[in-house]
Amino acid sequence: MDFKHQITASAGLAETDVDALVLVIADRPDPGLAAPLATLIANAISEGDLLLKKGKLLYLHQPAGVTQRRVVVSVAGDASPKSFKAAVASGLGALKSSAARTVGIAAPGIALGAGHAEAAVVAAADVSYLYTHTKPSATPGWTPTSITLFCQRSEAKPVQQGLRQGSAVAAGMTMAREFGNRPGNVCTPTWLGQQAKKLGKQFDLEVDVLDRKEIEKLGMGSFLAVAQGSDEPPRFIVARYDGAAKSKAPVVLVGKGITFDTGGISLKPGAEMDEMKFDMCGAASVLGTLAAVASLKARVNLVVLVPTCDNMPSGRAVKPGDVVTSMSGQTIEILNTDAEGRLILCDALTYAERFKPAVVVDVATLTGACVIALGHHHSGLFSADDAVAAQMIAASQTALDPCWRMPLDEEYDEALKSNFADMGNVGGRPGGAITAAMFLRRYTAKYPWAHLDIAGTAWKSGANKGATGRPVGLLTHFVLGYAR
Ligand code: BES
Ligand code: MN
Ligand code: ZN
Repeated sequence: MDFKHQITASAGLAETDVDALVLVIADRPDPGLAAPLATLIANAISEGDLLLKKGKLLYLHQPAGVTQRRVVVSVAGDASPKSFKAAVASGLGALKSSAARTVGIAAPGIALGAGHAEAAVVAAADVSYLYTHTKPSATPGWTPTSITLFCQRSEAKPVQQGLRQGSAVAAGMTMAREFGNRPGNVCTPTWLGQQAKKLGKQFDLEVDVLDRKEIEKLGMGSFLAVAQGSDEPPRFIVARYDGAAKSKAPVVLVGKGITFDTGGISLKPGAEMDEMKFDMCGAASVLGTLAAVASLKARVNLVVLVPTCDNMPSGRAVKPGDVVTSMSGQTIEILNTDAEGRLILCDALTYAERFKPAVVVDVATLTGACVIALGHHHSGLFSADDAVAAQMIAASQTALDPCWRMPLDEEYDEALKSNFADMGNVGGRPGGAITAAMFLRRYTAKYPWAHLDIAGTAWKSGANKGATGRPVGLLTHFVLGYAR
């Protein structure tokens, strides 16, 4: 991110030299606003050109008596960070086709806190993101050279803190989006391993990338069963950031890294199969979170684990009915090779035990059923631990990266019964997201644990197809909650 986020007091707003000003107003026009702008806005409202409704916009070009050549008035429904974020996003969006390079954001009627500042940075990064890696001809996105958030002097401290946190989260999200958007022939397990190594160099982290031989030595029979159908060799990424005393138990994040999910022998239908390149978005999000946490120099220990491989059909691919032995010793009858995410995650969850973790969170584009249950707004949250679930929900609320807790009662476990192994890898269509989580739960007895199903939130389909960078915000806030 090459944004510069400066802070100044809003007293001198009229004299401030920016190409464009985004003015966020809550529901009422602000009485404290300087004269020409206040009048212009009041007139626009009274003449019916600006509705005081959430999401409404008014663009003013070279308004008389105003220093800035462009002013966008953006109406937030209320003063909350959530509404502020949406108003900043649409305000900046209105400048996308403009020549403005330096932008100021002001919200004279809203008391700004850290949450507002963080939201503004994340929104700005989102608006100006453009994928070019395999499309260099993409019309250059709108890249402001600087964005300044104006605030009162008394707000400067929390706002500064929020900008710092927001920049870290935004950079982590952008990284996750870049990884996710790379096609499957670029973003391979080998490539992901190389990116993790790079990250290690950048932030001075310990990063190990295990190859197939080393994965075999660990006894990860379940993970390897998924990997065996592809010519692309698997990798197991182990990265750690040590920001606290060695004696402090780490947070462990596990990300699903299926670099392409064809379904394997239980082949998926062709429609939208390209979107299964996004099946490594869990991996991308935990690596993005690692970058965010490391760049903030947070006083916390963090371990990131990524099992990564392709799920392909071939003469060597695992077949429905095959029984494999996981690293935990539990056997699994693979009834559907398309339920591969849980098969690679369960071995990573067993591997996590060696860190004696304070908590383990796995993140995965795990089930289509979760998309049906929650749509594209909330990620699915599963945890048998009420305290951990509460921490996750709180983190998701401050990060404006929502998740919704789903049930995880013992009763659902029955669906995984197999006559030929300790468990089957699918539990039928009813409650598909829950039975997938119940499968993972069988590998997490040794530590507090939560699971995030991001199948509906990690990417967007349709005209704006692309990775979202979620849930880097949620995860970063969750990890920071363990900092001392
Ligand atoms: N990666 C998919 C889940 C997915 C599907 C995410 C569609 C987003 C959109 C996962 O590996 C999968 O295929 N799950 C199966 C499980 C089923 C076979 C029990 C599914 O959801 O259909
Ligand atoms: Mn699958
Ligand atoms: Zn998958």
